[in-house]
Amino acid sequence: MTDPDYVRIFDTTLRDGEQSPGATMSHSEKLEIASMLDEMGVDIIEAGFPIASEGDFAAVSEIAKRSQNSVICGLARAQIPDIDRCWEAVKHARQPRIHTFIGTSPLHRAIPNLDMDQMAERIEQTVTHARNLCEDVQWSPMDATRTEHDYLCRVVEIAIKCGATTINIPDTVGYTAPLESADLIRMLLNRVPGADGVIFSTHCHNDLGMATANSLAAVAGGARQIECTINGLGERAGNTALEEVVMAMRVRNDIMPYATRIDTTKIMGLSRRVSQVSGFVVQPNKAIVGKNAFLHESGIHQDGVLKNVETFEIMKPADIGLNEANIAMGKHSGRAALRAKLSELGYEVGDNQLKDIFVRFKSLADRKKEVFDEDLVALMQDSAANT
Ligand code: KIV
Ligand code: ZN
Repeated sequence: MTDPDYVRIFDTTLRDGEQSPGATMSHSEKLEIASMLDEMGVDIIEAGFPIASEGDFAAVSEIAKRSQNSVICGLARAQIPDIDRCWEAVKHARQPRIHTFIGTSPLHRAIPNLDMDQMAERIEQTVTHARNLCEDVQWSPMDATRTEHDYLCRVVEIAIKCGATTINIPDTVGYTAPLESADLIRMLLNRVPGADGVIFSTHCHNDLGMATANSLAAVAGGARQIECTINGLGERAGNTALEEVVMAMRVRNDIMPYATRIDTTKIMGLSRRVSQVSGFVVQPNKAIVGKNAFLHESGIHQDGVLKNVETFEIMKPADIGLNEANIAMGKHSGRAALRAKLSELGYEVGDNQLKDIFVRFKSLADRKKEVFDEDLVALMQDSAANT
């Protein structure tokens, strides 16, 4: 991709998403989600962590064999057996990628008990090994946002020299904030020799609710790959939500003039399927894909939407593949919405009948959270029987 403003969408629903406690998916469910992601136009699918289990290895291999358009990536720690196993799984893909990582912050360096020089040496060996197997190598300094800048520059430079083609900067614990996220990518692009020859990527977690903002800020700072998951599925508070970053860049393209090749009309289908197979219910007020994201209940909003949908909608439901009614009937609804809803159900009512039905509707709505189509039909039948 030569467009300098093209942002690659790297989906990790099947790897980081599946790491959410309780979100385990079956083999066939993983193949189905991978095929939906491929059709949607996701550039890179991180299909799993091949050394983690026989099941992960089998899923990544099969997804690699079936992939049509997307790059298929597997995750590997900075260890030779991990990288070999990863390659064995992804090598079947038309476009394979090895993603290898190591924790570079002081807290993470203490775990394998490596000092800075020993870790630098490990990075040199493992990235070189991965690059000897595969032309497309992604490298991540885990917990990058809590790594000393001088050391981060040093290890990123080593990874680039050893052949990494994408440098991913993870905010592993969701610690950064938008301005810092942009500055970090800018700093790396300015300071690291060879940085202009690779793609910088952002990988954010949502512990402070800033994953989407931090990812978009990183793009403003020069990142050209966003790592994300459907519905923001992921460990703890989750990862950046694919639907949020993609729709934000589309709706606010005036201030975020970046392109993706995502077919946004496939978003709703994927969101529902990922929710079903992972067992993670999408919160009703979740941006873009929540049940209420396009629903209007208050009279003022319903009246506005009925006159001109743009008064309260900044994107069309159809843009994300949602073709359902956007009016929810409840105690805050007004007469205009009731008339429109009745008309949709096949009842054309005059002013007097509307007045009568409206009183009954309000009394019902006071008792029920939401008034469904069947309730309105019953009200109409009752009204007909009493006149
Ligand atoms: O959050 C993280 O640091 C990760 C890495 C493995 C990229 O998921
Ligand atoms: Zn992660």
